[in-house]
Amino acid sequence: MSDTLLSVQGVQTYYGNIRALAGVDVEVKKGEIVSLIGANGAGKSTLMMTICGSPQARTGTVTFDGEDITRLPTHLIARRRIAQSPEGRRIFPRMTVYENLQMGASLDNLKYFNEDVEKIFTLFPRLKERQGQRGGTLSGGEQQMLSIGRALMARPKLLLLDEPSLGLAPLIVKGIFDAIKKLNQNEGLTVFLVEQNAFAALKLSDRAYVMVNGQVTMSGSGKELLANPEVRAAYLEGGRH
Ligand SMILES: Nc1ncnc2c1ncn2[C@@H]1O[C@H](COP(=O)(O)OP(=O)(O)O)[C@@H](O)[C@H]1O
Ligand SMILES: [Mg+2]
Repeated sequence: MSDTLLSVQGVQTYYGNIRALAGVDVEVKKGEIVSLIGANGAGKSTLMMTICGSPQARTGTVTFDGEDITRLPTHLIARRRIAQSPEGRRIFPRMTVYENLQMGASLDNLKYFNEDVEKIFTLFPRLKERQGQRGGTLSGGEQQMLSIGRALMARPKLLLLDEPSLGLAPLIVKGIFDAIKKLNQNEGLTVFLVEQNAFAALKLSDRAYVMVNGQVTMSGSGKELLANPEVRAAYLEGGRH
């Protein structure tokens, strides 16, 4: 039995003739928090979306829990219990907080529905206070909490987070990253996080990868990369943290 949950090998993804991923290898083990950092346009979101099957990898393989999912349609990948909070949060603005959480629940798990909603309200008490409020009227931080909460309603084995800190004040980012850490420590949730906010991501992560122009150029423990002079120069010094 391997402890690898997600394995991306030699993945190339294109938009038409444009190659966004040029042969990417990434591995996430069960119970890890792994982050992928890199500048805007590096291909981070494309990797996250390729894991979810849209767009599909042109070459290479994505293996999840021992199964090749490279050519599965997105809805079947979701049924393998990979859930994502996408870039821009993508909550349903006209639905209430509670309805947004309902949208995230999988039909397989309805018997856990109340329990799961309560767990999310414990993790993010702000969502409980605002459960009857429309998603579109929430602050950015609250919308991010809702996006993560909605993903958690699917009882994921792997949670994918695309830029959860984007546009949020440092104190709010800290709250959200603390919640991610709690989920990982208390529930053993495996997390793959994409971030431009390298400092926050590296501090949180067991391991991390650096992506430049569709390729992974460096990897190591969060600590190693935080101390790495190249990483510091490119992503930390003068960066936002
Ligand atoms: N739908 C699309 N069509 C064409 N090119 C795209 C599309 N989405 C992203 N790209 C290009 O792919 C590259 C990687 O983008 P992306 O994965 O969004 O990077 P990141 O998330 O690291 O900012 C960029 O050059 C971007 O312009
Ligand atoms: Mg992106």
